[in-house]
Amino acid sequence: MAHITHGKLITFEGIDGCGKSTHLALAQKFLAEKRLSVRTLREPGSTDVAERIRAILLDRKAKMSATTELLLYEASRADTVEKQIAPLLRQGHIILCDRFYDSTTAYQGYGRKLEIKMVKSLHTVATGGIRPDLTIVFDIDVATGMSRLGKKLDRMESESQAFFKRVRAGFLDIARKEKRRVKVVDASRPIEVVFDDVKKILLQKLELA
Ligand code: TMP
Repeated sequence: MAHITHGKLITFEGIDGCGKSTHLALAQKFLAEKRLSVRTLREPGSTDVAERIRAILLDRKAKMSATTELLLYEASRADTVEKQIAPLLRQGHIILCDRFYDSTTAYQGYGRKLEIKMVKSLHTVATGGIRPDLTIVFDIDVATGMSRLGKKLDRMESESQAFFKRVRAGFLDIARKEKRRVKVVDASRPIEVVFDDVKKILLQKLELA
C-alpha cells in the first residue's frame, strides 16, 4: 500500500503531558500559511469506529488485559488507516497525526512489557505497511508530564510513574534505532523555543528550508 502514496505522514509522539497536541495545532497553522494542504488526525480516533474504541480505551471503568488493550489500539488504527490515512495520502495531503504506531510500541511494548516483535508485527497488519515519513518525539521527564495533566485522569493517565518512565525510555529507544525517521525535541523548554525546533524539522523534511 505504501508505494502508491504521494502525500506525507508526519506523526507527533511522546508521553502524556508532553505538549505534542499543542505543537500539532501550531504546525498545522504554520504549514497552512505556506499554502500546503494539511490534514490533522488523532489516534486512537478520527473515524466513528476509532472514536468509539478510544472511549473504551480511556474509560477508567473498562478493565482489560494488556493484550486486549493492544488489539483495541491496533483495531482502531486499522479503521483510521483505511478510512482516513490511506485515502488522504493517495490524494497528496500532508497528514499531521497525533500519535501512531510508535505509541503502541512505547506504551504496550515497553510500558506493558508485551513482546516488541509481536507488537510490531501487528502494526503491519493494522497499517498495511504505511509508515510515517517523519516522527517527532516530544521528550519530557515523567514528573513534568504528569504535572501538566488535568484533574480527572483517564484510564491510561492513571498509570504509575514507573509505567511512564518505561514508555519514555521506549520512545527514546525507538528514536535511537530509527534516527532518520524519528527526531527528538526537548519539550521541557518554553513552547516558542520548542516550536522553533519543530519548524526547522518540518521545513527540512518538506524540503522548504
Ligand atoms: P492522547 O491522550 O494523546 O490522545 O492518547 C490517548 C492515550 O492512549 C494516551 O495515554 C496514550 C495511549 N495510547 C496507547 O497506549 N497506545 C497507542 O497505540 C496510542 C495511539 C495511544
